[in-house]
Amino acid sequence: MSHPFVIAPSILSADFIRLGEQIAECEAAGADWIHVDVMDGHFVPNLTMGPFIVEHIRRATSLPLDVHLMVANPEDLLEPFAKAGATTLTVHVETCPEAASTLKKIRSLGCQAGLTLNPATPASALIPALPLADLALVMTVHPGYSGQAFMPEMVAKIAEVRRMLDDLASTAWLEVDGGISAATISRVREAGADAFVAANAIFKHPDGIAAGIASIKNAIQNM
Ligand code: DX5
Ligand code: ZN
Repeated sequence: MSHPFVIAPSILSADFIRLGEQIAECEAAGADWIHVDVMDGHFVPNLTMGPFIVEHIRRATSLPLDVHLMVANPEDLLEPFAKAGATTLTVHVETCPEAASTLKKIRSLGCQAGLTLNPATPASALIPALPLADLALVMTVHPGYSGQAFMPEMVAKIAEVRRMLDDLASTAWLEVDGGISAATISRVREAGADAFVAANAIFKHPDGIAAGIASIKNAIQNM
């Protein structure tokens, strides 16, 4: 495939004592976006970062900030995250009874609107709001933690969402998140994904962040 792709390191596996340095390392190694996993301890069991962290990251890099909201009632947090400097705000369809209006609100705040779904949620749940999405994210693990194993049964869902976007003539990114590494990326790329989130494969790579990013890029380029 020749269409462009983006790599979005997820800072969930970063060393937070050295977060600024690690983000700079990602940027120098050719990362395209920085993925920020926001978890509220309700929608998912883990509890992570709020707008305060995004505001600090915004000052540390010029890369787009791809903010993944794994929270109940995301509507309440859209404005604070937009003000903090998020580029994209991605909400879970399970948390948005009126997903189309949520995506409209995200766009009205000057951000790109992303829509995602849990592994157990069928792709059809995206349909009503998909025309308003700038990004569709297919989760390839149950959200909550980095370092989990890729779920191969999600490949068919990625292909299904690819078809749905193509049918709409949508130029939205098709992102994947969870267990993405040099070993799994060819399957999701072939299914039509073009934005790749990775935490452990980048931040826990034995040879460092740059090697982690290079291994993912090489795996795509050698397909
Ligand atoms: C999972 C998060 C992911 C996570 C990915 O709930 O949404 O972004 O950080 O971690 P890896 O790439 O290690 O599976
Ligand atoms: Zn994520």
